[in-house]
Amino acid sequence: MQNKLLIFIGPLFFLLGCAVNTVQSNNETDTKVKQLLSEMTLEEKIGQMTQIDFSVIAAELGSENPVDQRKLDDAVLKYHIGSILNAPQTPHNQAQSVAVWRNVLQSIQAVAAQSRLKIPVIYGIDAIHGATYIKNAVLFPQALNMAATFNTELSFKEGEITARELRVAGLQWNFSPVMDLGRQPLWPRLWETYGEDVHLATVMGMSYIKGHQGDDFSAPTKALTCLKHYVGYSFPINGKDRTPAWIGERMLREYFLPPFEAAIKAGSPTIMVNSAEVDGIPGHANYQYLTTILRDELGFTGFTVSDWEDIKRLYTRDKLAASEKEAVKIAVMAGIDMSMVPFDYSFYHLLLELVNTGELPLARIDEAVTRILGVKYRAGLFNAPSALLSEAEHFATGQATEINRQAARESIVLAKNEQQSLPLKKNANVLVAGPNAKLLSVMNGGWTLTWQGDNESLYPKDKLTLFKAIQKKATGKVTYLENNVVDKQAALDATKNVDVIVLCLGEKPYTETVGNIGSLNLEAAQVKLADAMLATGKPVILIMTGGRPRIITEQAELASAVILGFLPGMEGGAAIADILYGDYNPNGKLPISYPRESNDIVLYDHKPIESYESNVYHPLYAFGHGLSYTSFQTSALKLASDTINWGDTVELSVDVKNTGLISGKETVLVYLNDVAASVTRPSRQLKAFKKVELAAGQTQTLHFSLKPEDLSFIGVDLKRVIEPGEFKIRVGNETVSFTLNKP
Ligand code: BGC
Repeated sequence: MQNKLLIFIGPLFFLLGCAVNTVQSNNETDTKVKQLLSEMTLEEKIGQMTQIDFSVIAAELGSENPVDQRKLDDAVLKYHIGSILNAPQTPHNQAQSVAVWRNVLQSIQAVAAQSRLKIPVIYGIDAIHGATYIKNAVLFPQALNMAATFNTELSFKEGEITARELRVAGLQWNFSPVMDLGRQPLWPRLWETYGEDVHLATVMGMSYIKGHQGDDFSAPTKALTCLKHYVGYSFPINGKDRTPAWIGERMLREYFLPPFEAAIKAGSPTIMVNSAEVDGIPGHANYQYLTTILRDELGFTGFTVSDWEDIKRLYTRDKLAASEKEAVKIAVMAGIDMSMVPFDYSFYHLLLELVNTGELPLARIDEAVTRILGVKYRAGLFNAPSALLSEAEHFATGQATEINRQAARESIVLAKNEQQSLPLKKNANVLVAGPNAKLLSVMNGGWTLTWQGDNESLYPKDKLTLFKAIQKKATGKVTYLENNVVDKQAALDATKNVDVIVLCLGEKPYTETVGNIGSLNLEAAQVKLADAMLATGKPVILIMTGGRPRIITEQAELASAVILGFLPGMEGGAAIADILYGDYNPNGKLPISYPRESNDIVLYDHKPIESYESNVYHPLYAFGHGLSYTSFQTSALKLASDTINWGDTVELSVDVKNTGLISGKETVLVYLNDVAASVTRPSRQLKAFKKVELAAGQTQTLHFSLKPEDLSFIGVDLKRVIEPGEFKIRVGNETVSFTLNKP
């Protein structure tokens, strides 16, 4: 600690100012909400807190109108429900045309308009990489890929386009973005996160929210976001979805809360709750997280929504409550404002009973309903409906598709390129092999047209699989190895006349518990296929797609080139082919550490003890790794001053040069290390980055400012502190030091 001073800098984190808070109290709205609340019966209030799945109001499968009018009348007029979620055709949620959506939403709001107080229904949908459940929507790379772009502008545009396409269909509330950190690679929802780093996840999420909501989420092209899944859901100790996390308060405050805090400041008005548990307390029962921290500390004024059936599960699964009724009481008192029930009216009946018998105070109901109505007012739902955006002008436009293609290109990581095996010559004879070459679903992953994203027959016919994209570009012969099981001789026969093998391996789509696995090892059949291809002696370009890193250490060692595609979305096939043939110079960088071995899960911002003596941070590919067809060099890393006065910013500059022969984009990453502190500090932590485009031979000087809070951490007493003393900053191969003076 070196006689350092511990300086307490307040209970709130200090993240990225300039936030727009669209849900901040607004007197006019408050007055309207108060007035409306005073006119509501208890039943009407509890209805507002109830969210049902579309299936509750669904007509029989195959009916022309997906809504059953009688069931809808019951939901809205009898149970006064405040919200509906999901796409028609449940239990097999399926993308619908813009026209179907418009009709569905219009029927729902028409019934709401007939209700006594005419309170509109808020309709929620998972539009996590574009408008998932609208046919032909622009479907972007998944969040992990967006993080790999290190391009906040693309994240902003994704938010903008998603909101616009939702509004074309009449939808307005999106269960996105995921602000959980992806620090557990086994977790089947890793790809829904912006990766393992706090700073990267924070800035990508904030940009998305700003694009999606603008300064006013009631504007005709904007829509509401919902932060998921507050908090700690993403860090299950055993890697399986919806299993316990153990996250001490220091870790919670240092890693998992900051992205949520920033997203709240960016104006997100709703939050969905962690479906599992942290430190033995289920997310839906955690008063400290849902009320003390979320409301009292972070100042969140919007409403919280439970995740799927999770209030019931406090009883049926967690055995925290002795009955379903007790579960409702615990969850509502912990701070849940709206229950995604989702299949019945049990929550409505039980909550009514709890209030009527005096077991649950009316004041808590009023508080929850005030928040829900506040968001509905601010979303403009009470205003006379304005004309919907024109589908022709605002939906799946050529411009949006081009932005999507660019996002896909920037999201792909070239991890290895031995002896410039890539780019391929267009006239090369190529053998494409592997189970992921001819599918669009493997590029998109879960939440694509259906929940699991695995119904290939629903995918648009005009989008290119990787195989088709290669065929389209190549002038040489392109063949496909139909058989995924080959012996040595068959492999030799198949590759006799080819110049190069493009081997497409990875995962099939999945999400949530469906994607649970017991090991990161690649499927045995894929390993066999890879070994057979590698044994032919022909150059192998290994292309991995899927939602998480699978162990490819031996195969990558022998392959000539490795591309990590993860889930690049609907333009993914075309984008990978652009890179394969040099029509685009790759620049994606890993937003996670790609493990070398299944159990060697050490993250880049590890503690010194994790790289001490025989311990090493030795992933197959490190966080931030990603090659280009040109080369870049950073140099002349300089601090404006090597002593920093208390409260001052740290100003630094560094030159970045394109030392190769073609133009390209490079992301320059700035890492900080607090040399000695009262709580062990990560060996390095990303604090800033900039992505620039440089022509061959061009140099640019980049300037960065680190704010005092960038030097802070959660101290011994669990409060955020800054300690004076020595700090190091590393960019590329250079390191500089400065001393922070005492106040
Ligand atoms: C998922 C959420 C999702 C919700 C509604 C849940 O199972 O955990 O991420 O928003 O379903 O579809």
